[in-house]
Amino acid sequence: MYTSFEQTTLDKIIILLKSNQSEFLSGEKLSKSLALSRAAIWKNIKKLKSLGYKIESRPKSGYKLRQITDLLVPWEISDGLQTDIIGRKIYYFGTIDSTQNFALELAKRPHENGSLVIADRQTQGRGRLNRKWVSPKGGIWMSILLRPNFESSYTSLFPMSTSLALAVSIEKTLKIKTELKWPNDVTINGRKVAGILIDASVESNKIDYLIIGVGINFKINPGTISKSIKQKKYDIDTLVNKNQDTRPVELVQQFLLELEKTYNDIMIGNVGTIRKEWMKRSSTIGKNVTITLTTGTLKGKVTGIDKTGALVLSRNGTVQHVLAGDMTYN
Ligand code: BTN
Repeated sequence: MYTSFEQTTLDKIIILLKSNQSEFLSGEKLSKSLALSRAAIWKNIKKLKSLGYKIESRPKSGYKLRQITDLLVPWEISDGLQTDIIGRKIYYFGTIDSTQNFALELAKRPHENGSLVIADRQTQGRGRLNRKWVSPKGGIWMSILLRPNFESSYTSLFPMSTSLALAVSIEKTLKIKTELKWPNDVTINGRKVAGILIDASVESNKIDYLIIGVGINFKINPGTISKSIKQKKYDIDTLVNKNQDTRPVELVQQFLLELEKTYNDIMIGNVGTIRKEWMKRSSTIGKNVTITLTTGTLKGKVTGIDKTGALVLSRNGTVQHVLAGDMTYN
């Protein structure tokens, strides 16, 4: 595990290499600046290369950074992050069971707020409704711990605000238009590219904490995932293709910023803007749908989403507001 608040030799070297990108930085200079032996510098350079950094080394000249890693190591996310709270503290894992589970543990520490847990791979990723969430390398798997001082009824706003933040950040960084499918799927041509899972803890009608889990199929093989979940209705896709060299870190930084904007909007009661922007991107409005609840199914035509994030469903002149459920288009 690497964190954003415990500096390691690795990120110290990266900072020095980044600020000297036009020239070679000698091993001697590096070892003096960091008070480390030349052998220790070499060992750390090897580690950085194994993390995906392209570093050229030349005898006599030293080291030069050629390319930054695609891994979402905390010092890369922090470098240029514009948020005030969200993602100021980062926990990064190569492999973890589930970032959501780790964030649940973090929630036991009252000072943790806005913390981001992110991993390259999850072995036991969790989806909504107790489904398995396949999380191979190439995707973005993250959980954010928030402690909003809100009443519990506000919880239903977070699927809407988080999916909007995702759609907006994808538009801004990748120039890709996505659709939003209630309650919180992000799709492209009807195929799912990202999903959201929210775990909430409520005490005496107040939110104690929320864990916002976000899975983005950033650069994955959709075939492998569909096969391993054996569910056709999970029609999934990858956000970028394998020969595209878009860096995931830009999307993560933008997403954290957009999420913080919607969070601030909710805090000042500006839910109207979130709702309007969500509806603009929705693929659900106007569709005839079936909603599966734990208690049965509902059918009807979607006429909108209300200011609590509930789906508004009309059928034979009656209107129903549905807060959660699994929806399929008829
Ligand atoms: C869905 O079913 O659409 C929600 C999927 C949420 C997956 C994310 S990946 C990061 C976080 N950790 C998990 O175990 N699940 C969420």
